[in-house]
Amino acid sequence: MTLEAKIAAVAGVLKRIQDEFSPATFASSLGAEDMVLTDLIAKHAPGISVFSLDTGRLNPETYELLAKVQETYGKQVEIKVYYPQPDALQQYVEHNGINAFYHSVDLRKACCGIRKVEPLKRALAGKTAWITGMRRQQAVTRANMPVQEHDADHGLEKFNPLADWTEKDVWEYIRGNGIPYNALHDKHYPSIGCAPCTRNIAVGEDVRAGRWWWEDESGKECGLHVKKV
Ligand code: ADX
Ligand code: SF4
Repeated sequence: MTLEAKIAAVAGVLKRIQDEFSPATFASSLGAEDMVLTDLIAKHAPGISVFSLDTGRLNPETYELLAKVQETYGKQVEIKVYYPQPDALQQYVEHNGINAFYHSVDLRKACCGIRKVEPLKRALAGKTAWITGMRRQQAVTRANMPVQEHDADHGLEKFNPLADWTEKDVWEYIRGNGIPYNALHDKHYPSIGCAPCTRNIAVGEDVRAGRWWWEDESGKECGLHVKKV
């Protein structure tokens, strides 16, 4: 399929979500894929709201991009930012330390729970569908991901419109449309999360090799997209 055909297909999916699954919302981490979807939502389905989870531990480049999105799209795309519950965060840090995520997988998941998963629940409350920028090629855990699925955990439909896009498609779209992107992508960070849990990768390394690099490959999800089995 050509990129033009893939773009048309995503525009169609977004319009369908806007018309049939209102209120729908798009989760943007401000990664490259999310910038593509932000642009396509602005152009084809402005009725879809956009939110971002600010964990408090994002890279300065990510905050710069958040400001740039506001400048570029203005009222067309307003990103609503969600923050962790202060009391839960306070308790976690007091008990475990500021960088406890390096100490065990459980402490890492608890940090993601407070900084991402609980705020996500608030962001999705009252919504009929949510949209992500995930692609099948990103991880072994995403290899069979459909474009549309039921998210039983959150009780709504979940759409991954870029499921079949390649990394090359994403960058062709970004360059071709001159849209803003995270400066870290130019420093060998294909996948960007929180600053202490993300590093740059070497040529030939897997795109998610820089995420929670000290952990086992199969469990490297933060809980935003994990299905309970
Ligand atoms: S993660 O599960 O490892 O953190 P990844 O960074 O690949 O996910 O992002 C996959 C998708 O999850 C993004 O395209 C976006 O839809 C959503 N997402 C991830 N992090 C955030 C965030 N901080 N705020 C909003 N959405 C996010
Ligand atoms: Fe905490 Fe790291 Fe998860 Fe961010 S990615 S919420 S810092 S454990």
